[in-house]
Amino acid sequence: MLIIGFESSCDETGVALVCTREGLLAHALHSQIDMHRDYGGVVPELASRDHIRRIIPLTRKVLAQAERSLDHIEAVAYTAGPGLAGALLVGASVAQAFAWARQLPAIPVHHLEGHLLSPMLAEPRPEFPFIALLVSGGHTQIMRVDGVGRYELLGETLDDAAGEAFDKTAKLLGLGYPGGPALSRMAEQGDAAIHDLPRPMLHSGDLDFSFSGLKTAVLTKVRALEKMHGALSQQHLADLAAATELAIVDVLASKSLKAVKQTGVRRLVVAGGVGANRLLRERLRTEIARMRGEVFFPPLEFCTDNGAMIAFAAAQRVNAGLVDLADSRHAFTVRP
Ligand code: KG4
Ligand code: ZN
Repeated sequence: MLIIGFESSCDETGVALVCTREGLLAHALHSQIDMHRDYGGVVPELASRDHIRRIIPLTRKVLAQAERSLDHIEAVAYTAGPGLAGALLVGASVAQAFAWARQLPAIPVHHLEGHLLSPMLAEPRPEFPFIALLVSGGHTQIMRVDGVGRYELLGETLDDAAGEAFDKTAKLLGLGYPGGPALSRMAEQGDAAIHDLPRPMLHSGDLDFSFSGLKTAVLTKVRALEKMHGALSQQHLADLAAATELAIVDVLASKSLKAVKQTGVRRLVVAGGVGANRLLRERLRTEIARMRGEVFFPPLEFCTDNGAMIAFAAAQRVNAGLVDLADSRHAFTVRP
């Protein structure tokens, strides 16, 4: 079955074609990062308008890439949520209109399930069961994944997500948007050992996280440095960025490894935008190797939001018999 998938939950418009037998055939992405940069974050209304502009041209592009036409498509998948309401509605409306016009099944996909299964888009493909560290701009969760649709939440953030901690601290340091990559780049020039930042909930005994205190701790350091030196130098910023990145990575790595130990499932999968972080990747590779386990990272293009993971998650659900194709006809689901 040939499935077209649409992702439009935040600031990336993604369209992809996935075959339930052959896997990913083509995908195309437009990132709105440049558009939102001037505002220091995503402006929801601008995001929705840009999704409207991009979604049809991107659809034409994937069809051309895969040398298929609209007539070949047998089902339509779209991100139903979570995400920005107006942005989600663009993808959902295009998907539903197309499904309705062609009498095709429409398959709503949970955005996080897309991220969760995205490491399976690449080779080597992780086998079930695995532990997933899901780290995006809006979510930080540790899940046990026993199969498609069989997910157990082991721990999650009690306040800010890890990506949010990167973004907010980067904003505080004036490093630009999106904060994760900007802060990470700056951190390369810095010395993390100069500042002692808290590792929230590192020893809480569970698999939950809390990141909201971190930006306050950084702000306190910034104020102290400003008092001493006036304006902060590039080196000050780099040292603070390095200390922040290390504090976040320490907690993420420690809790993921704890989940691996606790469950005895020695296969770890990292998904979501923060999974692109180099320090996190290096740390987990080293530590998992020490435990004789395996760690899987999606290719960078599938770490952040994309259409491939949505079409792929729908295909996995179809293959697992979890989609009632007759019943899903015209089901309109959006859950911001
Ligand atoms: O999964 P994603 O694209 O969108 C959401 O569903 O939220 O994740 C975006 C998040 C942002 O917070 C961004 O700053 C973070 O992922 N991110 C990074 C890196 N690349 C993206 N964080 C740390 N290091 C990176 N290299
Ligand atoms: Zn996402």
